[in-house]
Amino acid sequence: MTTYYYTASSLDGFIATPDHSLDWLLSRSIDDAGPMHYSAFERTIGAIAMGASTYAWLLAHGGREKWPYERPVWVFTHRALEVPAGADVRAVEGDVVPVHREMTAAAEELGIWVMGGGELAGRFADAGLLDEVWVQFAPVTLGAGSPLLPRALELELVESARNVDFSCARYRVLSGRGAAGRLPG
Ligand SMILES: NC(=O)c1ccc[n+]([C@@H]2O[C@H](COP(=O)([O-])OP(=O)(O)OC[C@H]3O[C@@H](n4cnc5c(N)ncnc54)[C@H](OP(=O)(O)O)[C@@H]3O)[C@@H](O)[C@H]2O)c1
Repeated sequence: MTTYYYTASSLDGFIATPDHSLDWLLSRSIDDAGPMHYSAFERTIGAIAMGASTYAWLLAHGGREKWPYERPVWVFTHRALEVPAGADVRAVEGDVVPVHREMTAAAEELGIWVMGGGELAGRFADAGLLDEVWVQFAPVTLGAGSPLLPRALELELVESARNVDFSCARYRVLSGRGAAGRLPG
């Protein structure tokens, strides 16, 4: 079972502006049926993890009226969560390891998607639990914002493609603090 961090990023490594706007991303063109698009990726996913800011963004952008995910979602937070009707959303905090165990059991052999932010994805990497990083790079720099993945990790590029405005790349995580045992050779 694979654990992915799949996200879009500016060229300078930010996944949102300092005020959590994604206008720079949502204004770009992408082909839903094109290479490495989210719609094909999502079908491989059985469980989702995200941080409180990402969850707040989803609620504020249509998720409150119509929750977009059928798969169970674990939200890392210290806040009390508002959960939309019919959504399978579970609030958790602290260590990612027991949560990953729970997610693995729930995912029914499908993948685990760490949606973001970058620090949360970094926590999974620290624990040696992050297998792949997929990034859709938008043709823009933001100068500041939420970081893509604030860790020192060795990655191997295993796939890349252009999808209209985006340069898409898929990396395997080779090493990090917790993943040292995976280094080749
Ligand atoms: N470009 C993209 O494709 C993409 C993808 C995903 C997200 N985003 C955006 O990127 C931004 C990410 O925001 P962010 O960097 O602030 O990251 P985030 O992970 O979404 O939220 C961070 C917050 O989550 C809570 N949290 C995280 N880890 C925790 C833990 N282990 N235990 C308890 N609480 C924990 C904390 O909030 P509390 O302590 O207040 O609960 C923390 O301040 C958002 O604007 C989101 O919409 C963009």
